[in-house]
Amino acid sequence: MPSTYTLETLSEALQPHREQSPQAALAWLSETFAGSIVFSTSFGLEDQAISHLIFSEKLPIRVFTLDTGRNFQETYSTWSRTLDVYQQPIEVFAPQANALEQLLAQKGPNSFYQSVENRKECCHIRKVEPLARALKNQSIWITGIRAEQSANRQDMQPVEWDATHQLFKFHPLFDWTFEQVQAYVDTHRIPTNPLHKKGFVSIGCAPCTRAIQPGEDFRAGRWWWEDSSKKECGLHSHAATA
Ligand code: ADX
Ligand code: SF4
Repeated sequence: MPSTYTLETLSEALQPHREQSPQAALAWLSETFAGSIVFSTSFGLEDQAISHLIFSEKLPIRVFTLDTGRNFQETYSTWSRTLDVYQQPIEVFAPQANALEQLLAQKGPNSFYQSVENRKECCHIRKVEPLARALKNQSIWITGIRAEQSANRQDMQPVEWDATHQLFKFHPLFDWTFEQVQAYVDTHRIPTNPLHKKGFVSIGCAPCTRAIQPGEDFRAGRWWWEDSSKKECGLHSHAATA
C-alpha cells in the first residue's frame, strides 16, 4: 500500500507516541496504517510482550508466525498457551512444500551444519520466503528487535525502511533492556517460553539454538558454530536506516 510518509516524517510523527509508551506508539500506527500493519512473532520474550500489548488492547494489527517446522516443542507449547490465554488469531506462514521436499531429498535434514551457504539456504526456504509472502502488500512490520541483542542490532534504528520488502519496520521495544522486558512479562503474567529459564535467551529453530553462559552475547546461542558477529538469518539483514 502506498504511504504518504517518508522515513523521516514517520519517525518524527511517531516520536511523541514512542515517548508515551510502546502501546501508544502501536495504537497510533494501527490507526495510521489501518489494514496494512503486521506483527511477526517467534514467541520469544520480547514478542510475547508485544503480543500482550496488541491482544489485550485488541489493536487492529495482524499477528503472524513463521513456522519453520524445526522449532522446539517448548516453542509450540508457548504458541498454544498464547492462543488459549488471548483467544486471538495468529496467522501462520510455512515453507513451500516443493522447495522443502527438494532440499531434504538433495541434502538431507541437517545440511545447515555443513556450510554457511547451506545454512542460509535452509533459512531462506523455511523463513525468508514465507516472510516475503506474509509481508506482501503491507506498509509496516512490527518486530521484537532490541538494540541490546547484538552489536549489529545496535546500529539499527527503532523505525527503519526495509528496501527488500518495501515497507517500514518498527521495533517498539528497541530501547528496552532485557530486565525491562522480563519485568513487563512478569508483571502482566504473560506466558513465556519455558526454555528461557534454562539459559536460552534468543530462541530460533531447535537444531540451531543452544543455551548461553552468563556474560555471553544474547545471540551467542544462535548458529554457534558460525564464526561471525553478524549472525542473521536473512529476516532482518537488509534493514536500512536512511
Ligand atoms: S532472527 O532473525 O535471528 O531469527 P530473532 O530470533 O532475533 O530473529 O527475532 C527478532 C524478531 O524477528 C522477532 O522479534 C520477530 O519479530 C521476528 N522473527 C524471528 N523469527 C520469527 C519467526 N519464526 N516467526 C515470526 N517472526 C519471527
Ligand atoms: Fe534451517 Fe536452522 Fe535456519 Fe531454522 S535456523 S531455518 S533449521 S538453518
